[in-house]
Amino acid sequence: MENLLKLSLEERLAWVVENHENIVFSSSFGQEDQAISHAIYSNNLPIEVFTLDTGRHFPETYEVMDKTRARYKKNFTTYFPETSQVEELVKEKGFHSFYNSVEDRKECCFIRKIVPLKRALKGADVWITGLRADQSENRQAMNIWEWDEANRVHKFNPLIDWTYDQMVSYLSENKVPQNALHKKGFVSIGCGPCTRAIVEGEHPRAGRWYWEESQKECGLHAVK
Ligand code: ADX
Ligand code: SF4
Repeated sequence: MENLLKLSLEERLAWVVENHENIVFSSSFGQEDQAISHAIYSNNLPIEVFTLDTGRHFPETYEVMDKTRARYKKNFTTYFPETSQVEELVKEKGFHSFYNSVEDRKECCFIRKIVPLKRALKGADVWITGLRADQSENRQAMNIWEWDEANRVHKFNPLIDWTYDQMVSYLSENKVPQNALHKKGFVSIGCGPCTRAIVEGEHPRAGRWYWEESQKECGLHAVK
């Protein structure tokens, strides 16, 4: 395998397309993901872009989804949670069970993200993500090319070694649409009730599940 870390984002994606089939990319429409979508859409790469709609996104997230669709004139697939699971959860525990405990929060993430993710990855050989090592301690242990045993899929993290500044420059050079919340102090953006803006000096993921003292992961990405 080539030394992928020496390649540009476009070259990394060209490599994966040349060497693999059934490639999917999961986008939350955050900054990292928008950089990857730009490279995929602008180069007409045969990569299926999908997003997981938890039903609890900020309005600004839906706005950037539509802006992206309009700018590139390309489509992506939206996976929703199983209706019956959400109905049962809400009936049993109400609309804000995630504030009760880490366990209840993970249950909500499981129903709204992990179950739909399994459907999205069905038949995929390669799963592309926007993970960056700088984002957290867990992510520092991740590589650009990995085997994900839980989902039995190759995982490709083409921005793993990118810095935040590198990503922001790429987005502004290419005039890529961005979530309006980034200008209001939001860095890492998840569901509305589980994300807040951060202040200077705070960890970039401090706004995620901000009331928890947990590892701040939702289970999409295995923690080593
Ligand atoms: S999370 O695990 O804390 O939710 P984060 O928001 O940092 O993840 O995003 C990391 C990567 O996970 C993204 O680059 C993207 O590939 C994937 N991801 C996260 N949320 C979603 C989502 N709602 N839909 C699709 N992919 C997502
Ligand atoms: Fe549920 Fe919050 Fe997880 Fe979204 S981030 S799926 S609302 S617990």
